[in-house]
Amino acid sequence: MTTWDQDALISPPIRPIGGPSEHPTVNPIANQSIRLGIMASGSGSNFEAIVQAIHSGQLNAEVPILIYNNPTATVVERAKRLGIPSICLDHRQFATRELLDQAIVEVLLSYQVDWVVMAGWMRIVTPVLIHAFPNRVLNIHPSLLPSFKGSKAIEQAFESGVKITGCTVHHVVTEVDSGDIVMQAAVPVLTNDTLETLQARLQIQEHKIYPVAIAIAVGQRISEN
Ligand code: GAR
Repeated sequence: MTTWDQDALISPPIRPIGGPSEHPTVNPIANQSIRLGIMASGSGSNFEAIVQAIHSGQLNAEVPILIYNNPTATVVERAKRLGIPSICLDHRQFATRELLDQAIVEVLLSYQVDWVVMAGWMRIVTPVLIHAFPNRVLNIHPSLLPSFKGSKAIEQAFESGVKITGCTVHHVVTEVDSGDIVMQAAVPVLTNDTLETLQARLQIQEHKIYPVAIAIAVGQRISEN
């Protein structure tokens, strides 16, 4: 039987607080609470994983606002349950991507957000947002970038025949899915996988790495709670 040590396939490795620092950007003045504005379009399982990591003490942050763009997105149910304020900015109500992003920026600034976290945000963002929060916009993408950029990344990987795929947390730049990589986890494509089983295993890793990647990006020390 094949076994798969998934934790060996996360990079940079997750180390307990107090352990040797594995990452050169870890900031010794660590663990100042940061305000995260989260953007989501769908189910919001990554949004919830981040909020749960805050509740468990793994990540020292607050989420003053969730922005979602689909009135029917079920992420709003999670936000209600978790007590996170939310606002819908329906992209259909804006003539251009830039106007949507300008509205997003205004909301984020009004909630005094420090960092922007795209958690299943299915719209291309423009320099209007990216330049309002320079080097402080993160995204999670369901592939091992730079492979399989763009939409339907899991399908792209599945259909390509690769044996290992994964997920990536990266900085957002104007070129889609191309900013500096913060953290990745590898996920095997098993012979009996369907798209659904692969996606389910991939999301487990997303939920594990996104809170840690945020901590790394903002310069907090990381824990493996
Ligand atoms: C996640 O798998 C994320 O990687 C993907 O959307 C899903 C959202 O799930 N993002 C992209 O494809 C961005 N190009 P969630 O709503 O349950 O967090």
